[in-house]
Amino acid sequence: MKHPPLRQAQGRPIGIFDSGLGGLTVVKAIQRELPKEKLVYFGDTARIPYGTKGPETIKHYAKQIVRFLIKKEKVKAVVVACNTSSAWALKDLRGEFSIPVLGVIEPGAHAAVEVTRNGVIGVIGTEGTIYSGAYPEAIHRLMPQAKVLTRPCPLFVPLVEEGKISGPIAESIAREYLRPLLKGGIDTLLLGCTHYPLLKKTLSKVAGKKVKIVDSADETARSLHRNLDMHGIELSGKGSGKYYVSDLSRKFKEHAQRFLGKHIPKVEKIFIEKY
Ligand code: DGL
Repeated sequence: MKHPPLRQAQGRPIGIFDSGLGGLTVVKAIQRELPKEKLVYFGDTARIPYGTKGPETIKHYAKQIVRFLIKKEKVKAVVVACNTSSAWALKDLRGEFSIPVLGVIEPGAHAAVEVTRNGVIGVIGTEGTIYSGAYPEAIHRLMPQAKVLTRPCPLFVPLVEEGKISGPIAESIAREYLRPLLKGGIDTLLLGCTHYPLLKKTLSKVAGKKVKIVDSADETARSLHRNLDMHGIELSGKGSGKYYVSDLSRKFKEHAQRFLGKHIPKVEKIFIEKY
């Protein structure tokens, strides 16, 4: 697909997507960093979780979503606010679409490298993200001597989607998952899944004060800002948000509010399979 001329692109929204609600943690950071931009969010709630699916499926989903965002909303840039999709599909998306497509892995790696003192970094994420090896690769590009300890945490996404972000169940699962990383001497824990920032309190209780917890949301928002600047397509208008999902559950608005920190007035359900 062709890149719209820059002057036209300026007034267009930015598309952001995730498998579900986790990407709203990135929306929140983008709204803080770029308050004048129009944002369009798509949560693939009908097909969540992504973390347990294979690379071909994830690529297929990602392409459908970007096609939808371009066709329906004429977005000028896309933020893949999902680590699993960033890990498997970013390269293909950049090959197929000519608008800027940003992922969360590079920014996350950057944030972790900035924070670590001893160079031992723990990364947690979905099975897909961890087995892709994308994080150690990105971290080693920035800090070749880093020791990266990774662990998939498949129970975290359903916990977060269910709102069970603190209490004894969340803590005991977190303790089990973090044990080998803490034993390995990490001083930084990188949350390699956009759902996990909601578990920050629980994770920091389990990891202790000496371990710094970082996520990619703020760094992704900053890198988007730089990218729009570079392309001359930053907008100075009235910020707005539009929300789409592929399945609208009864509790969607209540859950979405927890991720975004504010009420979502309107959500539209679309049939993503047709794109
Ligand atoms: N939130 C997504 C991520 O950052 C994936 C969660 C899932 O669908 O498994 O990887």
